[in-house]
Amino acid sequence: MFSKLVLSALFLFSSLLLAANGDSTNAAIKQHAFVGAETCGMCHKSEKQGKQLDIWKASKHAQAYKALESPEADKIAKEKGFDTPAAKTQACLKCHVSGEGVDASLLGPKFKMEDGVQCETCHGAGADYKTLKVMKDKKLAEENGLVIPGDVKTFCVKCHNSESPTYKEGWDAAASWEKIKHTIPAATN
Ligand code: HEC
Ligand code: HEC
Ligand code: HEC
Ligand code: HEC
Repeated sequence: MFSKLVLSALFLFSSLLLAANGDSTNAAIKQHAFVGAETCGMCHKSEKQGKQLDIWKASKHAQAYKALESPEADKIAKEKGFDTPAAKTQACLKCHVSGEGVDASLLGPKFKMEDGVQCETCHGAGADYKTLKVMKDKKLAEENGLVIPGDVKTFCVKCHNSESPTYKEGWDAAASWEKIKHTIPAATN
């Protein structure tokens, strides 16, 4: 059941996956299920790991769905010619959430679209890489769907670009990354 929505979601991720592991055939075909930010947060919330869950929760990304529920967002959608509220408009959801248009069988019980731009939006759907055994082996994790975004200048502009109705020319990916970076402490030295 490949709707347009599924295809656009896949497009975003498969292009990231291709960039990440270069294995075009497997990456494009294998579909992984989403588990939701709280599931990632079970292991990625301690001081030692680098508090990724807290950093994400404090970021605008965690509010990206809520942003579409504002009267301001509905106004933008209307001006763009859509007759649905922003939070029900695929052309808005595609950059503001994960999982939109994805087959329900690929959305785990803890996954919430309302979490907006979440871990798996950038790191790929995690059902097949989230176990400790796989996570500890970067190569194996990547083979099971983990995306390491790499250069923020090319990665972030998949959404931070002039197709965003509120985009401001000159958005600085590197400076913006400083606001949301969530490095594992041990890895920095
Ligand atoms: C069972 C615990 C656990 C869960 C659940 C988990 N991770 Fe991890 N993750 C780890 C561990 C342990 C590492 C390795 C840390 C290290 O090498 O120091 C890791 C590493 C990573 C890395 C860095 C990989 C690298 O080597 O550069 C990313 C990115 C990541 N996890 C994202 C996620 C995301 C997204 C989720 C949810 C879909 C998730 N993790 C769920 C334990 C977990
Ligand atoms: C907006 C995109 C985005 C979101 C959302 C996001 N990350 Fe990341 N993450 C990145 C980027 C970019 C990197 C850096 C990759 C690199 O160093 O090449 C990264 C790196 C990581 C690393 C490795 C850090 C290190 O020191 O090597 C872990 C672990 C991680 N993310 C986990 C998570 C978890 C867990 C969540 C959700 C709570 C999350 N990320 C949400 C983009 C994101
Ligand atoms: C190409 C990706 C993309 C699309 C499509 C998109 N947005 Fe956004 N949106 C963003 C990004 C990135 C931001 C934050 C930076 C900016 O303004 O560009 C944002 C910010 C916003 C904000 C501001 C939120 C705040 O905290 O002030 C609103 C409101 C918004 N978008 C509404 C919409 C509506 C309504 C649509 C559909 C008509 C839409 N967006 C389509 C990427 C997108
Ligand atoms: C899937 C689409 C998507 C991707 C990929 C993405 N963002 Fe965002 N980003 C958004 C949306 C949507 C908002 C607006 C959320 C809101 O205001 O509620 C936003 C807002 C932000 C904000 C707060 C507003 C601002 O411009 O200061 C920062 C900082 C940010 N993003 C940084 C990044 C960085 C750095 C990356 C790459 C590592 C990235 N984003 C990748 C969709 C995305």
